[in-house]
Amino acid sequence: MNILAVESSCDETSVAIVSDGKKVLSHIVLSQIDIHKVFGGVVPEIASRNHVIHMTRVFEQAIKESKLSIDEIDLVAVTQGPGLIGSLLVGINAATAFAFANNKKIVGVNHLIGHIYAANIDNEIKFPAVALLVSGGHTELLYLEDHMNFKMLGTTLDDAVGEAYDKVARTLGLSYPGGPIVDKLAAQGSETYKLPRAYLDNDSLNFSFSGLKSAVINLVHNANQKNEEIRVNDMCKSFQESVLDVLVDKTKLAAERLNVNQVIIAGGVAANKGLRARIAEKIKDKEILIPAMKYCTDNAAMIGAAAYYQYQKQGAHPNYLIGGLSTIPFEMMEIE
Ligand code: KG4
Ligand code: ZN
Repeated sequence: MNILAVESSCDETSVAIVSDGKKVLSHIVLSQIDIHKVFGGVVPEIASRNHVIHMTRVFEQAIKESKLSIDEIDLVAVTQGPGLIGSLLVGINAATAFAFANNKKIVGVNHLIGHIYAANIDNEIKFPAVALLVSGGHTELLYLEDHMNFKMLGTTLDDAVGEAYDKVARTLGLSYPGGPIVDKLAAQGSETYKLPRAYLDNDSLNFSFSGLKSAVINLVHNANQKNEEIRVNDMCKSFQESVLDVLVDKTKLAAERLNVNQVIIAGGVAANKGLRARIAEKIKDKEILIPAMKYCTDNAAMIGAAAYYQYQKQGAHPNYLIGGLSTIPFEMMEIE
């Protein structure tokens, strides 16, 4: 089954063609990062306008590179939400128009489920598994029971982890997106600043990053007032250590309690080199699955991968898609 997939929930315009949920025949990702950089973050209206400008060209390129004819495309998939409403609507309208004009069925895919299925492209998710989904908008710990049957074990009570990275980077005068830069500078620093770790209640699988973020901001502001210099590499390292301690400890706890064999790390922050190393170091008795870097940040291949399994379980969408409205599709699950 050849699926043409579209992703436009934030600032990447992406179209991919994926065969049987696994084989990526073509994959175009047009990043708008350089456009948003000057503003220090994604400007929704500018993101939507750029999707409008580039979407058709990205569609054409993806179809051309797949070497398939339009007749050979069996299904259209598109990110339905969550995301920026204007950005989502551009992808949904393009996908719907393409499906309608070419008489194809269409499925709307949840962006978070897409991030998880990125792990199933080059590898195989083995159920049951625990997944840590960490991105600019989300921080979730999930129990993956079977295909498309996921339960939520914990989530952030305030900032998403990628968001905290981006805000800390901004406070330190670094560029956007801050995650990769903080990751790089952390590798050159030492943990010389004392920063908090939010474990919350004993055994809680929820997260909180706003206290940590505020601690960094306060240290930087105090130093500025006293005309003292902040050791940027050390601050990046101290911040990253605090984030990694909590993320990895809670993931390990969930994996042990649920006795799974596999731990998946997905989402934009899964590109973090420190996180990859720490997971490998601390969780030795489980198989660790982390998508290739190109499938960690937003991309359409992951939407095509998820759509394949979603279509088998739930079929195509009956008639039309409503964008942006899908909430987090996971039921909460308590573990003993
Ligand atoms: O998944 P994604 O592309 O978009 C969302 O769905 O949010 O994730 C983007 C987020 C940004 O906050 C970015 O700073 C973060 O992922 N990120 C990283 C790294 N690479 C990207 N955070 C930490 N370390 C990295 N290497
Ligand atoms: Zn994402």
